[in-house]
Parts: sequence; structure tokens; C-alpha cells
Amino acid sequence: MTTNSRRYHITTFGCQMNKADSERMAGVLEEMGFDFTEDPNDANVILYNTCTIRDNAEQKVYSYLGRQAKRKQEEPNLTIIVAGCVAQQEGQTLLRRVPEIDLVMGPQHANRLQDLLEQVFDGNQIVATEAIEIIEDITKPRRDSDVTAWVNVIYGCNERCTYCVVPNVRGIEQSRTPEAIRTEIEELSRLGYKEITLLGQNIDAYGRDLPGSTPEGRHLYNFTDLLYFIHDVPGIERIRFATSHPRYFTERLIRACAELPKICEHFHIPFQSGDNQLLKAMARGYTHEKYRRIINTIREYMPDASISADAIVGFPGETEEQFENTLKLVDDIGFDLLNTAAYSPRPGTPAALWENQLSEEVKADRLQQLNRLVSVKAAERSQRYFNRIEEVLVEGTNSKDLSQVMGRTRGNRLTFFSGNLAELKGQQVKVKITQVRPFSLTGEPVELCIPV
Ligand code: SAH
Ligand code: SF4
Ligand code: F3S
Repeated sequence: MTTNSRRYHITTFGCQMNKADSERMAGVLEEMGFDFTEDPNDANVILYNTCTIRDNAEQKVYSYLGRQAKRKQEEPNLTIIVAGCVAQQEGQTLLRRVPEIDLVMGPQHANRLQDLLEQVFDGNQIVATEAIEIIEDITKPRRDSDVTAWVNVIYGCNERCTYCVVPNVRGIEQSRTPEAIRTEIEELSRLGYKEITLLGQNIDAYGRDLPGSTPEGRHLYNFTDLLYFIHDVPGIERIRFATSHPRYFTERLIRACAELPKICEHFHIPFQSGDNQLLKAMARGYTHEKYRRIINTIREYMPDASISADAIVGFPGETEEQFENTLKLVDDIGFDLLNTAAYSPRPGTPAALWENQLSEEVKADRLQQLNRLVSVKAAERSQRYFNRIEEVLVEGTNSKDLSQVMGRTRGNRLTFFSGNLAELKGQQVKVKITQVRPFSLTGEPVELCIPV
């Protein structure tokens, strides 16, 4: 096989953390001399970066894997890699279930891909799922966009929400040092990136494990400090971050977001349920009153801030009345976007063993009711953009209308307007909004913005 004929394919499931990991693993494969191919059937190395947050996410992986395992019977040189959260959860079991797999690697091992793959090419079948200290990212990711980029700031999760597999598969919290984060952002700026999204499962818990924290849990350096530390990197015009946990979302953080001009007024703060008893059963560590106070404080400082969240319906024992408390919270707050899901019992989590599970019918019915309310509320929230002038950072073209470019407002609304991508890519444009839909906008360009 010549170097030129070495092609890789990656399919990514799951959250932004996985997308960021896939970009890093793609970078490793390109450094090793592989070229990307869109078509898995054309690749010599196939990598599935998997998600196990709900059962349907996991099952999807098995159906993709089945097809490639079959192909491998005819093409024994094909290399199959399963990375990410299913890999971590299933480990050795995956090899027993699909013996054609060459490499099973958990998310903490993403930066070790080259080393692991070389062992595979030496004829070994490898499972890399032991907990390790994540190696500082020294690779060059192959990023999907050349305008916006992910920057990991904290890996793992120290919470113990009773429904959730993430702590089992992503391990304990590991904060990168402020210096390493800033260096990566400076590099992105040199490469011409305009927007960064700081990533962590609970990003506002950043810093707890850095040296200088006290046993009582007081930490000397937290997420708000990090925002101040990285804000002035020249060339970066917008900063976003996700995901925030209500437990750690302080007024000081809100004030910093209001004060620092590059931080976009968009906050993703999952609430999961609007009922205090359920929040307690989920071990979330806050009440719906506290959640409402956070949103009110955000809106005091930034009246136009857009708010998005995640919610689960059909958690074990959820009564009709408790479900209505979730509807009520959604109705009262008016989210710009809400990711909703029916509760899915996950292996290795406490709630999966409880006896008060609800039927699939009840869960599906509640999910539908909630989704209906969400689109009504999102459509209402979109109305406020009508006739307004919004700053849009141009990222690409509208795939449904190539005469239009596509970008996002500071509040993270997808926005389309007529224009030439070659001229506008990476520019912020003032756009007058002429059409609003629940989750996207269309407008007319007014003028280019002057970069901050
Ligand atoms: N760290 C974030 C969320 C990470 S997981 C937080 O704490 O908010 C992403 C979302 O998946 C969660 O917010 C939750 O809404 C959903 N989720 C997690 N486990 C789930 C399960 N067992 N069933 C259904 N949805 C689940
Ligand atoms: Fe899962 Fe809870 Fe951690 Fe979020 S905070 S990743 S929901 S355990
Ligand atoms: Fe899924 Fe793992 Fe993210 S389980 S949601 S890919 S952390």
C-alpha cells in the first residue's frame, strides 16, 4: 500500500466534546500520512467516535459497525477503530461482540492515537480504556471550520447525576492550565480564527483541580478568572462556552460576561427538570428557584441574552404533576433552544436500577408535549429579532441556497443573507433581519462591522 492510498474516515456521534476529539484524531491521522475520505467504504482506516448518553445513541454505533465488520471479512487490511464513550463503557466486551475491531480507545486516549495505531499495524488488537492523565494537546487538529474553533478547557465530570454515564466514561475532572489554553487560542488567532468555543462538561467547575485549591473546595483560580485571562487575545472576536452547570454559575461569572465585550450573550445551562423533588432524585444540587434566579440575574445584566438548556422527561417516578412543573419552567423562562430527551436507563447508573421506571408510551407522550411547547416558545423568542440589526459572523454558505451565506448572531441564531462567501468568510456583518423562523433567521446585509 503506498502512502497515497491510505485514506481514513471518521464518523462522530454525540456532543461537542466528541467533535473536538475527532478533529484532534483527524489531525493525528493526517500527520501519519492519511487523507480524509467522506465515504467510509473507500477508507482503509475507519474510526467511529461514539456516544452512549442514551440507548439509541449506542445502538446506532452497532449498526454502523456491523456493516464495516462484514466488509472486513472481504478486505482483511481494513482497520476499524472504536473511540469515544461506547468504547470506554464497553471496553473488552466490544471486541467479543465485534471481533473485527482492531482498536477500542476511550476518550482520555484520543491524543495517543498514533501510538495505539502503530501497535495495531504491528499486528495487535488493542483496548485502551484505563484512566490516565490526559496528555496535553500537542497535535494539530484538522478543524472542520476555519472561522470557529473548539478549545477544551476541562475534561471529565465530578458530578454524580443519577441518570448519567458521563462520569463513568469521561473520568474525573482535569483542567488544562490557563497558560496552555491561552497558547492554543493565540495559535488559533494566528491561523485566522475569529470565534472560539471553550468546552467542558461543566465548564463553570473549571479550576477545582488546579494547584492552589484548598481541601474545603475553595479554588484560587476559577472559570471567571480564565475568561479574564484569555479575553484579550488579539484577532479573536467572539468567545462562547458550554456547558454550564447551575451549581457553579455565579453572579461574578455573569458580571464578567456582561463586562467583557467578546463574550457572546448566549448561555447553555441545562436544568433537566422543573421539579424540586426530581432534581433531588437526579442529584443535581439546585432547586428550580435557584435556576430561575440565575436566569433572572443573567437577564438583569444582559436583557437580550439567549438562553438554551437540556431537559429530560420521564425520569423514574416522574408524576404528571412533576412533569407539569417542567412545562411551567419552560413556559416561564422562554428558552431560545431546548434539547429534550426521554429518560433512557444507562448501565452503571443508579437510576437505571430503580423500580419506578415509566413506560415508553408515557415518556414519548411527555416528550411530544414538551417539544410542542418548546417550538411555540422558540418562535416567540425569535420574534424579537424581526427588523433588528444583528452582527453575524460569516462561516459558510446556506446549503439550501448557494447565493446566500450562513453565520450566527451573537445569541447563536443561525442566520442567512445574500452574499459572496469568498469575500465575507470570517467577517462580521451587520444584518437587518427580515424573516424569522423558530430556530433561524434571514436578513439583508447593512455593513461590515469594525473588529474589536
Ligand atoms: N454536563 C451537562 C450535560 C451533559 S450530557 C450537564 O450537566 O448539564 C447532555 C445531556 O444529555 C444532559 O444534559 C441530559 O439532558 C441528557 N442525558 C444525560 N443522560 C441521559 C439519560 N440517561 N437519558 C436521557 N437523557 C440524558
Ligand atoms: Fe452528566 Fe451530571 Fe456530569 Fe452533566 S453534570 S455530565 S449530567 S453527571
Ligand atoms: Fe455522548 Fe460521551 Fe458526549 S456519552 S454526550 S459523546 S460525553
